[in-house]
Parts: sequence; structure tokens; C-alpha cells
Amino acid sequence: MDLLKRLSYHVLSNNFIKAGKGSSDIKSNLKSIGIDSDILRKIAIVCYEAEMNIVIHSLGGNLHCDIYEEKIVILTEDIGPGIPDIELAMTEGFSTAPDSVRELGFGAGMGLPNMKRYSDIFEINSSIKGTNIKMTILL
Ligand SMILES: Nc1ncnc2c1ncn2[C@@H]1O[C@H](COP(=O)(O)OP(=O)(O)O)[C@@H](O)[C@H]1O
Ligand SMILES: [Mg+2]
Repeated sequence: MDLLKRLSYHVLSNNFIKAGKGSSDIKSNLKSIGIDSDILRKIAIVCYEAEMNIVIHSLGGNLHCDIYEEKIVILTEDIGPGIPDIELAMTEGFSTAPDSVRELGFGAGMGLPNMKRYSDIFEINSSIKGTNIKMTILL
């Protein structure tokens, strides 16, 4: 029940050099505390997709990883512009990524569907003020 540790990272909009740093740091931290490799793989996927969405689609935000005895919770919050139609955004293959980003290999429209698929509990809230995502992975 008690929060054992929180790892937090700033995620910069459009910065593809720093992109993914938070996720890889979370992965190595969780590996070092002995998290099972199958669970670690799921966390790495949801974490990276959420971080990249902040880089690509938002004006910037934060990524957190909360470690509990029985679960890992990945949280993101960004400062907008939000997702106008969450149901549409959750559709496999839907992407508003511009060509410049697709050229870098992103924009397959599988990020949100996979974040939901690999989380035990997936929660998303969005308004023009920003998007908040909470993904719980049970240990
Ligand atoms: N943090 C975010 N802020 C604003 N829009 C977002 C955010 N995350 C996702 N979206 C929207 O949802 C769409 C689908 O996201 P996703 O499934 O990760 O696909 P992709 O990132 O490949 O476009 C994005 O193209 C974008 O329009
Ligand atoms: Mg994405």
C-alpha cells in the first residue's frame, strides 16, 4: 500500500535527443530492484510510449514512476493542448503525427492502444489544459 519510491522526469516537447531518457532510467531502476523481466518489458513499453507522446504531441510535461510493494504506477501529465477525442485517439492506427515525425519512425498510432493493452489499469483524462495518464502494472 505504501509508496516506496517515486522517480520523476521532465519531458521536453519536440526534443528527440533527450526523448526516451526517462523511460530508460525507469527501466534500469526497476531492473536493479529485481522486477521480473516480463513485467519489466510491459512497463518499458507503456512508459516509452507515454513519454514519446509528450515529446511528439504535447507542449511538455512530466513522467513519474511510483514504486509500491505490489504495483508499479506510471503517471504522465502535460501542459496541453490535450486530446479532443479520446475514443478516436485510442483507435489502432490513428495518428496526427506530422510527416517530419513519421520520418523518424514514429506515428504508427499504436502508442495509446498498447499503453492500454499492457497496463492492468489504464486511466486517461484530457482537456485543453493537458493530458493525464495513469497506468498501473500489478506485480
Ligand atoms: N499527450 C498527448 N497530447 C496531445 N495529443 C496526444 C497525446 N498523446 C496522444 N495524443 C493524440 O493521440 C494520437 C494517438 O496517439 P498514439 O496512439 O500514441 O499514436 P502516435 O503517437 O503514433 O500518433 C496522437 O496522434 C495524438 O493526436
Ligand atoms: Mg504515440
